[in-house]
Amino acid sequence: MVTVLNHPLITHKLAIMRDKDTGHKDFRENLDEIASLMAYEVCRDLPQVDVTVETPMGECHTKMIGSEVILVPILRAGMGLINGILDLIPTAKVGFIGLYRDEETLEPVEYFAKYPKELAESVVLVLDPMLATGGSAIAAVDMVKKKGAKNIKMVCLVGAPEGVKAFTEKHPDVDLYLAALDEKLNEIGYIVPGLGDAGDRIYGTK
Ligand code: PRP
Ligand code: URA
Repeated sequence: MVTVLNHPLITHKLAIMRDKDTGHKDFRENLDEIASLMAYEVCRDLPQVDVTVETPMGECHTKMIGSEVILVPILRAGMGLINGILDLIPTAKVGFIGLYRDEETLEPVEYFAKYPKELAESVVLVLDPMLATGGSAIAAVDMVKKKGAKNIKMVCLVGAPEGVKAFTEKHPDVDLYLAALDEKLNEIGYIVPGLGDAGDRIYGTK
């Protein structure tokens, strides 16, 4: 399932991020806010358990979240999505996948992986703002699946149609969430119109 969150608040904040004159401070702040807004929708079908709580007026039969949530950002840019989601799910654990895209081949290269041990029984949210060719997201989901993750969601900000097609063909069992589906990839594998290099814009490295 592919969900594009065409919400006015998200689109507005993303427009600020897309602007080439937006600096890293405002870029990061808007990314945090979009991550929180996306988390609200991504968590719509989280498993729940029945609970009974005692209110000042008596017993209330209600529900609470019934599963651990693990965030797995793809370094570096995926780290920009952590804080906004943790604001809504403060008990989430966090793993890390280090991947960079080889600039010539556009193939993902793995350089780091560290996960909480409960991957198999948790809802795992793999995070990366950009889904371009889809290679990094596909590789990251392959990695968490190998470690036992079963209930996985891929959370991205901007996707290219090429990346969405590749990802959904390779991982049809993984729900994909996007804040926007853009027009295309250019000849060097960047999303058009996109927002440029997400990692560089978050961390001010260019
Ligand atoms: C960017 C982005 C994704 C990847 C997307 O990371 O954050 O991880 O490219 O491209 P793909 O869909 O074609 O794989 P990059 O490799 O630039 O690393 P960085 O986050 O460290 O800047
Ligand atoms: N990675 C980015 O950061 N931006 C793109 O447009 C493509 C890959």
